[in-house]
Amino acid sequence: MKGGGLPPSAPPRHVAVIMDGNGRWARQRGLPRVEGHRMGIRSVRAVVECAREIGISYLTLYAFSTENWGRPRTEVTTLMGLLREFLIRELPDLNKHGIRLRVIGETGRLPSHVRGVLDHAVEATGRNSSMTLTLALSYAGRNEIVRAARKLAAAAAAGKILPESITDEDVAGSLDTAGIPDPDLVIRTSGEIRVSNFLLWQAAYAEFVFTDVLWPDFGKPEFLAALEEYAHRDRRFGLAGEQGTLSPGDP
Ligand code: FPP
Repeated sequence: MKGGGLPPSAPPRHVAVIMDGNGRWARQRGLPRVEGHRMGIRSVRAVVECAREIGISYLTLYAFSTENWGRPRTEVTTLMGLLREFLIRELPDLNKHGIRLRVIGETGRLPSHVRGVLDHAVEATGRNSSMTLTLALSYAGRNEIVRAARKLAAAAAAGKILPESITDEDVAGSLDTAGIPDPDLVIRTSGEIRVSNFLLWQAAYAEFVFTDVLWPDFGKPEFLAALEEYAHRDRRFGLAGEQGTLSPGDP
């Protein structure tokens, strides 16, 4: 992945990012892990700013997975504190730039001091329309699908829908991401090449860009380089290489 200075001509509509490598960044410097998370916030700011400047409509950041609840208590507490600080500090800028905040995940599990500022920020930015920034918090793709299945099952049990008439759109509309288009591009930092329970349904046709850069070192040039790599991909959505020829089973 080469660094690019210019924005690509056709930016993806929706970019999702698995922000990884904060702990390793800190360890490499002999610092506590939480310092990596603290520096990671700088990258969050840079990427949000860059996405907005380029005209990306949807940016989704994997900020805290359900698995992350299993980390040492002090790390979880610090992450929650950083998130709260971030929301309070950035709210005026989100509004200034017309950025709408959304959240996906089991937000009911978040501590009330975070939920309060989160609900306020979501409400206060609800009418903004230049870009939607979605934070995945206490999020896991399988859990999201299970919760969607429960909603649909309950509707079927109540006689509101017929099981045999459930469509892809019904499932998509029951996910936390209802109304948000599927990601075109998923970026993962820190050299790990896996999906880690992120947007499992939504990323069905996404392009993936993996970079060795650790999240706290990921800034505007690295984001632009990922977009450039995406711009050279040949997206087929399950269609065959020749235009318009459908080939079932073709990946
Ligand atoms: C992965 O690094 C990163 C996280 C678990 C949290 C990401 C959080 C932030 C960037 C800060 C808060 C976010 C917002 C939106 C304010 P890791 O700890 O798994 O790193 P490692 O794999 O090197 O241990």
